[in-house]
Amino acid sequence: MAPDSIILGIDTSCDETSVALLRNGRDILANVISSQIKIHAPHGGVVPELASRAHADNLYHVTQEAFKRAQISTADLTGIAITHTPGLMGCLMVGLSYAKALSYALNIPFTGVNHLKAHLFSPFLIVELSFPFLGVVVSGGHTALYLAESWERIKCIGHTVDDAMGEAFDKAAKLLGLGYPGGPIMDRISRKGNPNAHRFTMARVKKGELFMSYSGLKTAMAQLLQENRGRLDNQQFIHDAAASFQRAAVDLVMNRIEKALALHPVGLLSVSGGVAANSLLRARLTELATAHGLQIPLPPMDLCTDNGAMVAYVGHHQLSGGQASNYHLSARPTSPISGLI
Ligand code: KG4
Ligand code: ZN
Repeated sequence: MAPDSIILGIDTSCDETSVALLRNGRDILANVISSQIKIHAPHGGVVPELASRAHADNLYHVTQEAFKRAQISTADLTGIAITHTPGLMGCLMVGLSYAKALSYALNIPFTGVNHLKAHLFSPFLIVELSFPFLGVVVSGGHTALYLAESWERIKCIGHTVDDAMGEAFDKAAKLLGLGYPGGPIMDRISRKGNPNAHRFTMARVKKGELFMSYSGLKTAMAQLLQENRGRLDNQQFIHDAAASFQRAAVDLVMNRIEKALALHPVGLLSVSGGVAANSLLRARLTELATAHGLQIPLPPMDLCTDNGAMVAYVGHHQLSGGQASNYHLSARPTSPISGLI
């Protein structure tokens, strides 16, 4: 019997220091996520310099915690997976340097993982992977639809032409004075509001029917607040505005998902990225799955937002296929939306 593969997965691409240990590409032995919310909240958003410093301070300790929870040691590791693109440059560099140093010291291979690819495949930490599938990644930095026919054949079939869905949530929350991080707060507040109180019209996107624009929604929110300046201290007005925005944002991506499924009738939809934690989106996806007999796995929240387990999952596949990186690998802040390399 082949010895166990044990992959250390690290993600420091943005504002969460996350480290996981994954056995045989399947069993999550530990998935530790250290959030930097307290550091960035006073600034109303992620401050890249503060984020990289916090990663540098925390990464060692978060890694130690992962080994403690998994009750294994570095001697058990067979490889390391590290997010090297896309993300905040300084943040990526902290993680990548750490992964290279560990790989060198332990004499085990490491592999650079694309953060978007890690999100895209993250639902397969809870259900068996099968091709083909449609995937939608809805995060703070990206909103895109993919058709995955195999690990090698993944095509981006649509995406936002401006803001990402999570970014729109964050900006709307800021306009409403709700603080950071906006998405989860909007989700919570929306439960107390009427989603039909206000209409947010959606901008048309010329590029194609699977493309979308989220910056128009943010502008619509700014306009609504401008027109209702006298009601900004009315709690119910704020709740209704949040709920109406959330409904419009979810309607938009659901519309594109349904169109994509009509064009590419597959039986499996992967939904991932921080916004996949949104309760309205999850409810609508569950309805869609039931209505169309589709499989739509909805991972728990800590596998939706940034986490090391999803990086370890893709890393396991890459290392099993002999795709170890070399020490020249650099961090890249952006990666082409269609090329999940
Ligand atoms: O995937 P992620 O953790 O980091 C990126 O790679 O961007 O996604 C973070 C984004 C943020 O914009 C955050 O506000 C949003 O996901 N988010 C949510 C919820 N939880 C996180 N948006 C809406 N509803 C939520 N419950
Ligand atoms: Zn992410």
